Amino acid sequence: MAVLWGGRFTKETDDKVFNFNESLSFDKRLYAVDINGSKCHAKMLGKQGIITKEESESIIEGLDSILKDIENGTLAFDNKCEDIHSFVEDNLTKRIGDAGKKLHTGRSRNDQVALDMRIYTKNEVLLLKELLTSLLKVLLEKMKENTDTYMPAFTHLQKAQPTNLAHYIGAYTEMFLRDRDRLSDIAKRMDYSPLGAGALCGTTYPLDRDYTADLLGFSDATYNSMDSVSDRDYLIETLSACSIIMMHLSRFCEELIIWNSNEYRFVEMDDAFSTGSSIMPQKKNPDIAELVRGKTGRVYGALVSLLTTMKGLPLAYNKDMQEDKEVAFDAFDTVKDCITLFTGMIDTITFNKDIMAKSAMKGFTNATDAADYLVRKGIPFRDAHGIIGTLVLKCIEKDCSIEDLSIEELKDICDSFDVDIYEAISLKTCVEKRCTKGAPGDILNAIKRYEEII
Ligand code: ARG
Repeated sequence: MAVLWGGRFTKETDDKVFNFNESLSFDKRLYAVDINGSKCHAKMLGKQGIITKEESESIIEGLDSILKDIENGTLAFDNKCEDIHSFVEDNLTKRIGDAGKKLHTGRSRNDQVALDMRIYTKNEVLLLKELLTSLLKVLLEKMKENTDTYMPAFTHLQKAQPTNLAHYIGAYTEMFLRDRDRLSDIAKRMDYSPLGAGALCGTTYPLDRDYTADLLGFSDATYNSMDSVSDRDYLIETLSACSIIMMHLSRFCEELIIWNSNEYRFVEMDDAFSTGSSIMPQKKNPDIAELVRGKTGRVYGALVSLLTTMKGLPLAYNKDMQEDKEVAFDAFDTVKDCITLFTGMIDTITFNKDIMAKSAMKGFTNATDAADYLVRKGIPFRDAHGIIGTLVLKCIEKDCSIEDLSIEELKDICDSFDVDIYEAISLKTCVEKRCTKGAPGDILNAIKRYEEII
């Protein structure tokens, strides 16, 4: 066992305690950000004359060689070390001797891990934004291809009014745009370097915290050393943004699963994104959409787990905080995979346009438009609503749509009907005349905006 704190102890750590306490098995993925943070710290120590220029250079060279050896596979993570920070320091001293022991001057693992997690999360936020942009680009293409693909829109899963597929996809586009904005907001709030906060109350060495913040690409250094080492808000915010992304993906997946069902057949998933059954040869299942929907729970779990871990913690660092890593890493990996898989799935899906349009023509999706027609003929809306209700009842009895009734039958119910009713309640009119901002008839304007901002 190689620990950084053996001095005041008279016994070796119990094996079970070591295994329970260690984090190298999962924080090893922080190696690159840890090494970079240490290089910047060493550079600053040299600049400030806290260690000599030669020591600083030798530390930086040693750290570079560790990074190189981890990446080319010649340096394996030694499970005798407690965490990634101990591993790197231990290895550095083996490589460069005594200068290695000076790296930790004016630093604690508390500000070190706070820095590592922050930079790691910042990078993940950037990756998530890029993945969302790729998804948004695919959605924009699908929108452009489907401005006149008519379909029913639903409330309570009941057909409500007609729309076009571009408008439907536009709704999800708005959600993913908000998700991307949310990540940008979080990135701004987390853009402060905690390095130099020390264990919790800073240090007596003349550290230049603004210099390391700058070297590390932060906009500023944090303003309270106790908060710096105990703040995991940025991680909770990111997990919250991830949870909302998953909620959106899950809703879209649910729609696609319904649309892919034998009853709907609005869509056909590509064979490359579907799976079969071991017993029923006819089956082609939407497993990817179901898995994305299913993995949503796991990401919510990470958020609730970290919120719960943090809720009772007094200032400043407590070991409980080590529990942030596994859940956060798992959530980041899961969300990245889900966005990527979902993007491929939606890119290759076939929309059965005829079936969608036929469905829009059934189920009285034009009933509101029929009522609006009567309003234009001078009938108050509430009365028009009642008249069309009666009309719908008649249609249900005859098992037909409003437009299947003859003009005589229509006039029987209300004298204000004329032959122009058929044009007024055609699918095309119903969709295209709804051109208030954000409505299906306004879709070309919406697409123009998406082309600028995606
Ligand atoms: N492995 C620890 C973590 O992930 C690093 C910080 C350890 N600090 C300490 N005072 N024990 O939080």
